[in-house]
Amino acid sequence: MTLKASTGSPFARILSVGSAVPSRVIDNDYLCQFIDSSDEWITQRTGIKERRWVGEGENIETLSITAATSAIERSGIAPEDIDAVIVSTISHYEQTPALAPKLAHLLGLGDAAAYDISAACAGFSYGVAQAEALVRSGQARYVLLIAGETISDITNMTDRGTAFLFGDGAGAVVIGPSEVNGIGPVVWGSDGGQFDAIRMSHDIAGGVKAGEFPTITMDGQAVFKWATSHIAQATRRCLDEAGITPDELDVFIPHQANNRITDTLLRYLKLPEKVVVARTIQHLGNNSAATIPMAMDALLTSGEAKSGQTALIIGFGAGLVYSGQVITLP
Ligand SMILES: CC(C)(COP(=O)(O)OP(=O)(O)OC[C@H]1O[C@@H](n2cnc3c(N)ncnc32)[C@H](O)[C@@H]1OP(=O)(O)O)[C@@H](O)C(=O)NCCC(=O)NCCS
Repeated sequence: MTLKASTGSPFARILSVGSAVPSRVIDNDYLCQFIDSSDEWITQRTGIKERRWVGEGENIETLSITAATSAIERSGIAPEDIDAVIVSTISHYEQTPALAPKLAHLLGLGDAAAYDISAACAGFSYGVAQAEALVRSGQARYVLLIAGETISDITNMTDRGTAFLFGDGAGAVVIGPSEVNGIGPVVWGSDGGQFDAIRMSHDIAGGVKAGEFPTITMDGQAVFKWATSHIAQATRRCLDEAGITPDELDVFIPHQANNRITDTLLRYLKLPEKVVVARTIQHLGNNSAATIPMAMDALLTSGEAKSGQTALIIGFGAGLVYSGQVITLP
């Protein structure tokens, strides 16, 4: 018996982006009450001056809903045309159920397929790759991809190696069919040999103690070394796979992990001066999966980047995992 196969659009693109920035501003001096550090050290080593944490009435759901509502409105499509919702997060409290079905319900998206992915700071790009594949295969007409994080909930405020790095926030995009291609081939991978480089503080063997939620731990130097070597090569491969040269790029939106990592990637890629580079880390910190869509929205809103321009995105983090692609900005 021959079964029918779904057929989709030959190409896909990002139609719109939205984001949500929490209200509580946490500067470096505030954190230095809890760790032996200084504003000068944190600024010099990471580029971070302040980050945003959730305040009164804000949480991962409210941030995600705000970002998603904005993306849906800006896409101009009817919510009922969204067939799938993908949420990328590492800070949703429950292993099951996923956050995506709840957000789909709160957004009034009917019975859209909904699931979470756990690819840490690479999660947005992983999600773009999945959404693009769903649209092109015909398994979904439009996909809502949300990256929502409240890393402050899983930050150990007294850990000198991580307390200053992370911020909260959410970003969302709607991905749908297109007559011209707006999403280049994904370049992605993993190195589970470095499973311990960034992880939660309790393993299953040790057990989570009652009343204690695990927090993030990190071998900063291992991550830094990997990011500045392996990820640098991956950025070049993203351009090659999309068939463009560094000269043809307009915007570079790397994961906002550390400005020194971004500087190293720039030196490796030899991008021309005209390329706009996202540096939202200065005021937002590292928002894990949410950094790239938050930075994308910020650059478009400020006018530094323009709709239709060609951008390279790349994320990397716990796993270790990485993922990137060249996209056309919505
Ligand atoms: C976390 C990170 C900023 C730490 O910087 P680093 O230069 O590797 O720091 P080190 O652990 O080597 O310590 C260097 C010095 O700074 C000191 N130090 C470490 N943490 C400090 C802090 N929070 N404040 C002040 N000093 C600190 C150390 O004691 C050491 O001092 P010494 O030279 O006198 O012995 C850096 O490793 C990093 O950004 N890594 C990548 C992390 C990342 O991007 N993670 C997210 C990926 S998704």
